[in-house]
Amino acid sequence: MSLPIPKPPGVPLLGNIFDVKPANTWWSLKTLAEKYGEIFQIKVLGHTIVFVAGAALAEEICDEKRFRKYVGGPIVEIRYAVHDALFTAYDDEASWGIAHRIIAPKLSPQVMADLFVDMRDTTGELINVWKAAGPTEPRVLLKDLNRLNLEATTLTLFGKKLNCLDGPEHPMIQAMEDSTSEAMKRPNRPGLLNWLLYGSKFKSSTRVMRKYGEDLVSYRQSNPTDRQDVLSALLNGRDPETGVGLTESQVIDEIVSMPIGSSTAPCLITASIFFLLRNPDVITKARAELDSVIGGEFTYEHLAQLPYIEGIMRESLRLSFAAPGFNIEPIPSADKRPVQLAGGKYEIAHNQPMIIVLAGVNRDPTVFEDPLKFEPERMMGQQFERLPAAVKKWYGNGKRECIGKHYAWQWNMIVLSMLIGAMDFEMVNPGYELVQDGWFNIRPVDFKVRVKSRAA
Ligand code: HEM
Repeated sequence: MSLPIPKPPGVPLLGNIFDVKPANTWWSLKTLAEKYGEIFQIKVLGHTIVFVAGAALAEEICDEKRFRKYVGGPIVEIRYAVHDALFTAYDDEASWGIAHRIIAPKLSPQVMADLFVDMRDTTGELINVWKAAGPTEPRVLLKDLNRLNLEATTLTLFGKKLNCLDGPEHPMIQAMEDSTSEAMKRPNRPGLLNWLLYGSKFKSSTRVMRKYGEDLVSYRQSNPTDRQDVLSALLNGRDPETGVGLTESQVIDEIVSMPIGSSTAPCLITASIFFLLRNPDVITKARAELDSVIGGEFTYEHLAQLPYIEGIMRESLRLSFAAPGFNIEPIPSADKRPVQLAGGKYEIAHNQPMIIVLAGVNRDPTVFEDPLKFEPERMMGQQFERLPAAVKKWYGNGKRECIGKHYAWQWNMIVLSMLIGAMDFEMVNPGYELVQDGWFNIRPVDFKVRVKSRAA
């Protein structure tokens, strides 16, 4: 006999509509995970969604022999902007494999060394902006890091310098915010309301994002180069299996998807700085490592010699859950019987969408002693290797795992190393408590710092 999957009581007709705040879905899910544990379900507008928030169950539903990515809800909505791109393609769409095989080699570990200098130098430019502004100005850290991320992504992947670290914010940043927030909210509103009241915002943010892509393509066409970057693969690459290339529209779809994907990284770094300020002893250890490894100029070879910085990054990924979750469903089959989980402890419908809530999985008390403690050491060496795979799913799962994960690893390592190494941060509000919100990623709300050059 299986156990019933726990469910908040809800209200008649509307179900659990009040248990999940549309303006902060992921924070509501984190709260529900803290209350209900490894699995729970809600019903909204007649649809049941099951949430998995424990490591063992997450590991089970990451088994690609039984389960796959579920493309539904907000992911389907954002297809309005990027169609059948990597992140949004249905499992059976041939376009996913074609784009994946064309793009993946340009984001593989083998090409990361070529991106190092641009990543390092753009980070140096942000540090110079901070130094020029002086230490008295309170800064919303996430906003500055969003600019840095767009600057670095546009330069490294598409070969154009945007110079967007200061001055008016680049419109792509607001457009990503508007389109992803709209995509998250639409599934919980009646269709007519979406169309009547919110359609134009979705349209205009899509227009801005696609113009960002179109501008990069025309810049490349009028400035030919032998750069072998992601843009060159999108424009000229052919899928080695089918010989097919991408259409003009698909090129824009994939360009737009990249900064949306990479916008998770600034959320992580912002959270990491918060954790560091709460744990000054970790900053001391990190600086000891940085000072002993990087004597003069920071080079690519240094990255492999910074295990403590890597531990900080992984522990920040664990506790910030910057990409807060991902969707899974049973692989469709002729067998319509319920699917059993945990050897029959729970049962779900054969076509039940599920969402892995990393706020629960990453802090599972059956895996981590004192799970809320920020402890980079447990993310290093053997200790890290021994952890179950489910608590390392920061980049998603299986074939639909983040295609930018090597890029993200390197960018995060560079930015963290340089920020900790060169700058002192101080919270504007020393009593700040971490609250996060977000859409396709989750970030500290209103976290302000003062930044100055590191004291000698
Ligand atoms: C800390 C940084 C990052 C985190 C935590 C992260 C996390 C994730 C996760 C969890 C997924 C799976 C989503 C799903 O299953 O629906 C994903 C997919 C994806 N990410 Fe990332 N990501 C990061 C950085 C990046 C960067 C830097 C890029 C681009 C350069 C990127 C591009 C993508 C794309 C295109 C996909 C869709 C892949 C596919 O389905 O084939 N991400 N990411």
